[in-house]
Amino acid sequence: MNDDQVTQDVNECVGSSTTDDGIVEKQVGPARIQIVKGDIIREELDAIVNAANNSLLGGGGVDGAIHRAAGPNLFKECWTLEGCDTGDAKITKGYQLRAKHVIHTVGPIWRGGQSNESKHLSSCYRRCLEVAIENQVKSIAFPAISCGMYGYPVPYAARNAMKAVRDFLIAHEGVDLVRFVLFDEPAYHEFAKALGEAIQEKG
Ligand code: AR6
Repeated sequence: MNDDQVTQDVNECVGSSTTDDGIVEKQVGPARIQIVKGDIIREELDAIVNAANNSLLGGGGVDGAIHRAAGPNLFKECWTLEGCDTGDAKITKGYQLRAKHVIHTVGPIWRGGQSNESKHLSSCYRRCLEVAIENQVKSIAFPAISCGMYGYPVPYAARNAMKAVRDFLIAHEGVDLVRFVLFDEPAYHEFAKALGEAIQEKG
């Protein structure tokens, strides 16, 4: 399936506007939620979110990519944070990244769905947005937390993410733009579909 077919498919699924850049967008009060396909390292927003582990001392996937792009000072600052609980979030500077800050969160490891995975995943999105507001971060990019090494099924994770972000934006002011940056087509498709469903659900 090529990019044009995916974009058309996404439009049919969610009834959203999709630009030539493949950005699917919905408005929630004064804030916008966007879905894009790409590499989160390239984002120039106030903050990007890192899908980290409890040590906050780096790893593979998006975590490894963020640390490589930010340079060694990110590791030094992470060292001072003394780790992070699953479902919580902590902020650092962005160093050599285009984004001003990194908000590090720790998603749940998927163990079949009966181990509070859903509760922990929505907590990640909520805590990142709380930390964003506390630090005057108005635009923030999320990867698909837990959807790589931690094995969370993408359709479930996408629905969880959209509901958590939608409910937060309805209840809080301060963040103007939430952008989900998906690395591959299947995840982009699922997150775009979940965005349409989450916004329609609320009427
Ligand atoms: N930009 C956007 N998304 C990305 C990028 C990127 N540059 N690179 C990967 N992804 P993962 P997790 C996607 O494994 O599942 C680390 O070792 C990827 O395709 O990075 O939360 C940590 O240290 C997937 O959809 O994070 C932890 O030990 C999503 O990001 C563990 O992995 C998340 O995949 C965390 O696992």
